[in-house]
Amino acid sequence: MKAKSLFIGLGLLAVAAGGVTWTLMDRETGPDIVAARMEPVSYPLPEEAIPAELSDTEAEIVVNNCTACHSLEYITTQPRGMGDKFWNDEVTKMAKVYGAPVEPGDAEAIAKLLAERFG
Ligand code: HEC
Repeated sequence: MKAKSLFIGLGLLAVAAGGVTWTLMDRETGPDIVAARMEPVSYPLPEEAIPAELSDTEAEIVVNNCTACHSLEYITTQPRGMGDKFWNDEVTKMAKVYGAPVEPGDAEAIAKLLAERFG
């Protein structure tokens, strides 16, 4: 007798589980569930920061030319004491190797400014 009611219980459970599965797979609700999952999510990103060393008007040439592909931290985190040639080569590499659209006159001014401040 006990075994029989256990079977009935299991049977009912199976029907209930089937019902839930059926509801989840329901053609009416299915797409809604998918749509809810695919809703675009936006995350607040930190403001693109201009480091203090490059926040004056003279440094605008750097901000304008050097932020298209990466943050200015690529510049400010370079080791100090690298000298003029390093900064010249950096700016040249950005333009020639990575295709940064820097006018030749601007390249010189940028390299000079970076060497003065981070050289
Ligand atoms: C067209 C895209 C682009 C622009 C614009 C750009 N860079 Fe870069 N920069 C790169 C790439 C790519 C790297 C290498 C990234 C890496 O290795 O993870 C890089 C890396 C650097 C580094 C790290 C050291 C190195 O050589 O890898 C410095 C410093 C740097 N850039 C300075 C500048 C300066 C100064 C300017 C403005 C004249 C500039 N970048 C503009 C693409 C650019």
